[in-house]
Amino acid sequence: SKGAAMVTAVAYRLADQRRQITETLAEFRLTNDQLLEVKKRMRTEIQNGLGKKTHDNATVKMWPTYVRSTPDGSEKGDFLALDLGGTNFRVLLVKIRSGKRRTVEMHNKIYAIPMEVMQGTGEELFDHIVQCISDFLDYMGMKNTRLPLGFTFSFPCRQTSLDAGILVTWTKGFKATDCEGEDVVGLLREGIKRREFDLDVVAVVNDTVGTMMTCAYEEATCEVGLIAGTGSNACYMEEMRNIETVEGDVGRMCVNMEWGAFGDNGCLDDIRTEYDRAVDDLSLNPGKQRYEKMCSGMYLGEIVRNILIDLTKRGFLFRGQISETLKTRGIFETKFLSQIESDRLALLQVRSILQQLGLDSTCDDSIIVKEVCGTVSHRAAQLCGAGMAAVVDKIRENRGLDQMDITVGVDGTLYKLHPHFSGIMHQTVKELAPKCNVTFFLSEDGSGKGAALITAVGCRMREQEES
Ligand code: GLC
Repeated sequence: SKGAAMVTAVAYRLADQRRQITETLAEFRLTNDQLLEVKKRMRTEIQNGLGKKTHDNATVKMWPTYVRSTPDGSEKGDFLALDLGGTNFRVLLVKIRSGKRRTVEMHNKIYAIPMEVMQGTGEELFDHIVQCISDFLDYMGMKNTRLPLGFTFSFPCRQTSLDAGILVTWTKGFKATDCEGEDVVGLLREGIKRREFDLDVVAVVNDTVGTMMTCAYEEATCEVGLIAGTGSNACYMEEMRNIETVEGDVGRMCVNMEWGAFGDNGCLDDIRTEYDRAVDDLSLNPGKQRYEKMCSGMYLGEIVRNILIDLTKRGFLFRGQISETLKTRGIFETKFLSQIESDRLALLQVRSILQQLGLDSTCDDSIIVKEVCGTVSHRAAQLCGAGMAAVVDKIRENRGLDQMDITVGVDGTLYKLHPHFSGIMHQTVKELAPKCNVTFFLSEDGSGKGAALITAVGCRMREQEES
């Protein structure tokens, strides 16, 4: 009969639709061999970044940080810290007490950085930062104290000492003019001078390094820092003899890997999808930070959005209607992805989240959206794990060990908020680096505490040089 034929046609169309969606998402599923290959390529890029002859053309830059040891517990004093480059801009006062009862007391205030300032001129950006510091000092009633300051500046910097860092290139959502190629400590000091007060800028610190130091303060086996947040990056204690871009062969130094740029030479092109390329093309820095764009919070939602647009165009979602909302960049923030993927959430709640975002969905739509989010974040966690596996195995080989225990300090919104990211990442490291027994340690507020610890060490070193 005609009715039966129609039912068959609908069933056929649905099955075909399902097959096409599955096929689209299959590109994001990496095999074990592919992940091992990613680990291997990361290892090659690490080598290139460290080597004297290969460094200039390397993508993973392995910048020296001039942090030569993890904290020993004797650090003490009052410090200011700035945290620029994560989800929020913050100014902090950190009081560290040493001795039998080690304590760290922190006070902080969050300040907004308007988009116009993030992407305006460098002078405006640094004036805004200094304005926030000044407000914070007033708020704390400390305007007339000259405190040592640690500047957590979470962007790639070519450091020549603890307190000098030339911004190589902006990443994530920043694009202020006249900063690239400049020493950011100098820019900060000039800004402070313009407002006629005084601060002693002692250290410029990457957030990964702050995170490692904070964790190492509690747990001496921590020699790696990882950020899985707005951006993605890692640092670790490398042997001086292997860091060919710095004089000297004794001891160790922490290197800021800037692994977000992994793949910028095309070495990940075989696993990048058309959606990854679309996200890259529409970003502030096309062609750059390709690995970061596959595994960090700022971009996962964008990958999801691009897939949803495509599925909608093909008529599989939202009744084939691409709404203005779906065309809006940045709608799927990490916190929404995390909610959508939460297992405790009923589908009806997924629909209500989509509704909040301005997307009208049917029940079938919400199932597909959840599946897309899950696929994209699964790959992100695995890729991040493959990178970490390369790092811990490198450290193990440095030390000539067959088996090694090591702790990684981690921070970042994706790691902390997402329901599955951390678990999948841990599992991947375990599978890809079976000779390392890796413990992950959530190190909250590494950017503030860590910057203060590094500043404390910096002050001590300076006193030793002076005496
Ligand atoms: C970006 C920055 C890097 C930072 C990371 C995490 O990759 O370039 O310096 O550590 O984001 O915030």
